[in-house]
Amino acid sequence: MQRFQINSYPEYEKAYKRSIEDPEGFWDEIASSFVWKKKWTKTLEWDFTKPEVKWFQGGQLNITENCLDRHLEKRGNQTALIFEPNSPNEPSQYFTYKALHSKVCEFANVLKANHVKKGDRVCIYMPMVPELAIAVLACARIGAVHSVVFAGFSSTALSARINDASCKLLLTADGGFRGDKITPLKAIADEALKSCPSIEKTIVLKRTDSDITMEANQVWWHDEIKKVDDYCPAEVMDAEDMLFILYTSGSTGKPKGMVHTCGGYMVYTAYTFRNVFQYRSDKNVTLGREATRAGKHDVYWCTADIGWITGHSYIVYGPLANGATTLMFEGVPSYPDYGRFWEICEKHKVNQFYTAPTAIRALAKHPVSLVEKYDLKHLKVLGTVGEPINEEAWNWYNDHIGNGKCPIVDTWWQTETGGIMISSLAGVTSDKATFATLPMPGIQPVLLDENGEEIESNPAEGILAIKYPWPSLARTIYGDHERYRNVYFSAYKGKYFPGDGALRDESGNYRITGRVDDVVIVSGHNLGTAPIENAINEHEAVVESAVVGYPHDIKGNALYAYVILYDGFEASDDLLQSIKQKVADTIGPIAKPDKIQITAGLPKTRSGKIMRRILRKIASKDTSNLGDTSTLLNPEVVNSIIENSL
Ligand code: WTA
Repeated sequence: MQRFQINSYPEYEKAYKRSIEDPEGFWDEIASSFVWKKKWTKTLEWDFTKPEVKWFQGGQLNITENCLDRHLEKRGNQTALIFEPNSPNEPSQYFTYKALHSKVCEFANVLKANHVKKGDRVCIYMPMVPELAIAVLACARIGAVHSVVFAGFSSTALSARINDASCKLLLTADGGFRGDKITPLKAIADEALKSCPSIEKTIVLKRTDSDITMEANQVWWHDEIKKVDDYCPAEVMDAEDMLFILYTSGSTGKPKGMVHTCGGYMVYTAYTFRNVFQYRSDKNVTLGREATRAGKHDVYWCTADIGWITGHSYIVYGPLANGATTLMFEGVPSYPDYGRFWEICEKHKVNQFYTAPTAIRALAKHPVSLVEKYDLKHLKVLGTVGEPINEEAWNWYNDHIGNGKCPIVDTWWQTETGGIMISSLAGVTSDKATFATLPMPGIQPVLLDENGEEIESNPAEGILAIKYPWPSLARTIYGDHERYRNVYFSAYKGKYFPGDGALRDESGNYRITGRVDDVVIVSGHNLGTAPIENAINEHEAVVESAVVGYPHDIKGNALYAYVILYDGFEASDDLLQSIKQKVADTIGPIAKPDKIQITAGLPKTRSGKIMRRILRKIASKDTSNLGDTSTLLNPEVVNSIIENSL
């Protein structure tokens, strides 16, 4: 694995250059450091107009052999997975590579005993417990396609996803702990199952000991594992066989089941994990707050849920393919108080910590004494993902969590891209507040103007697109290749279109400016809502904001800002005026919002993204059809925003 580790800036430059000049040779070499049952014959075949992308054709492998079996000899007794439960009073659990291997094999045998075969789809609707990771890997072991549905989704959302992929088996739990609440997963699943004819069986894990009823064709996890042994050979998979489906919301219509395949996804997630986070297994590096324990491997923690792509790629597959120690946390950052993340970092001596800007902003609202209580000296690398990070949050993260000494990797990527696309490599390439910075080796981003022409000069601002394939690109939308072509490959001929805008500084660093569909045209001027929000967020009274456009008689569109204030600030006329002035000062008078509504919360998706679609409707006084709000993190906030709308 050392073969693909980038240790210095010149090494990054060299790798990048090689990856552009000879992409196939570059990826061949990286892929060769994995365990293949049969070597590939054709590295890459692609055509973005069809679109068709195939990597490592003719190659055969099983990703779990790369994540588990191959580590047994050298690090069988090393911890692979640390589980930190929701309640700080419940003991943590530690799984060595050996233990995880046998748990995965055992559950793979349970799947087989329940008639799951290679290619069958298995829906996983489970809390953040070790069995979730085990279930995912057990599917991969036997070549079943996993479709993990985040355990906060409603029964309607769950049944839609089960039906879209005609899943044969459902894995769930009696309930899930989240802070001081229990999510009644089994009851929600039963409701969903009323309209899921393809499901033949449900396997239920006991977690909360909730009082539930087992129906026909529903069996207990703990009963099933008693019937099988703990060795299961790994199914032989073609590199382009389906590994999993993961749903992501489209701007309109039903969710898109992004399909990832075995070979390319494995190679790319492992490569990016190693280099972005500079994970070390056997060597001391002097990064961060304090040089870590010499001769020991790092402890890495990503706070995402396995229900999202970040959890798939950077809790499970990427870290395990590197023989890393990966931590999973069942709970929420606020329970039992807002110091929980830092308590966990201290307890497990976390070296790499990867979270979302929305979490950072929420934590930054609380006294720093909640951070200072804990010893964070083991932290070396901090990361963010999911949305642009504003400067204030970046600074707080850098000052209070990193103590000014930990590089921050701001990682831009998507469910569709499978792995990190643009990011600094911790301590190897420079970070820059609010910039994702440089493309990973193998990634060829371009900025396009409104006519789709490539802008080659720097600095520049435009629409972000990718002009060459990389191994972990999603291959299709399950059951709807035409939609896949339409959404990602039709806007700009021959290029992958992610739907984001970006700017590039003199040195070629990228800053993601937000979704290009969030542009509002005011009096003929194109205004990105993201920079306006950044400006508002810089105001000392503001925690967070969301800006949308609404129809205006004279200007065509005007801007409506929803703003959350820090405790202790009152929504006076003077304050509203000074927020507008802040925008005028930062961007220009044209960007001043016409209306500012002070609100206690903003509607968010489970991954922390603001649902601007809902806010746009409310601002436009069109509340008749807000769509399904049940999948929001905080559906209750919607009514209060409507009641107080201007
Ligand atoms: C946004 C999450 C700015 C972006 C891995 C992208 C980001 C969408 C960043 C994908 C970042 C993700 N800076 N924006 N570092 N990371 N995004 O599919 O708009 O949940 O298109 O994947 O999140 O979200 P998804």
